[in-house]
Amino acid sequence: MLVAPSILSADFGHLSDDVKAICEGGCDLVHVDVMDGHFVPNLTIGPVVVEAVAKAATKPLDIHLMVENNSFFVDLFAPLKPGYISFHIEEEKHPHRLIQKIRALGIKPAIVLNPHTPPEAVEFLLEDVDMVLLMSVNPGFGGQKFIPSVIEKAKRLKALIEKRNPDCLIEVDGGVNDENVKALAYAGVDVVVAGSFVYKHPKGISTAIAALK
Ligand code: DX5
Ligand code: ZN
Repeated sequence: MLVAPSILSADFGHLSDDVKAICEGGCDLVHVDVMDGHFVPNLTIGPVVVEAVAKAATKPLDIHLMVENNSFFVDLFAPLKPGYISFHIEEEKHPHRLIQKIRALGIKPAIVLNPHTPPEAVEFLLEDVDMVLLMSVNPGFGGQKFIPSVIEKAKRLKALIEKRNPDCLIEVDGGVNDENVKALAYAGVDVVVAGSFVYKHPKGISTAIAALK
């Protein structure tokens, strides 16, 4: 299992230390939640802060856009050379075009599904993306409760991926902890995002990441 801690649960007063801590603690990706106050009822960070994150990180950034006007935000973050940029299918009229744009910038494109969106909604995009991110909470905030139906959804998505693009990864984001991670692994999930579980673990960040792995 690859682990992508969400810096949304970090202490933003000591952000670079908290980014270094997850990289030294064994994470695989640094998950960055970008919210615009329109697509979701919360507002987080823009390129100025993410540039500081990129400087502190020794692992690729996994930028999760929760915004309207995806293409505008891709242009804002592309100069920081993230590993992945993911965007919500619910907010994109021309997903193929946006995927091609992200790839042409040298970034791996990924697509995100809200908890209610069926995996079939992205079936004909699977050949074009490197990862599909399944939300297991309603996007907008850290520390929410895991929605268990994502497990069945991951299994259905895995079957579609095996048919259309076996190299495509499945990532799950929201309420992930050491209790539900096993069911996600058995369902075919490759990457878990975890914010509060990693940053608020009583035994520390590296113990939390090791527990998920
Ligand atoms: C929610 C974000 C998540 C969130 C995860 O909109 O996309 O990445 O911060 O935090 P936890 O693991 O605390 O649910
Ligand atoms: Zn996220």
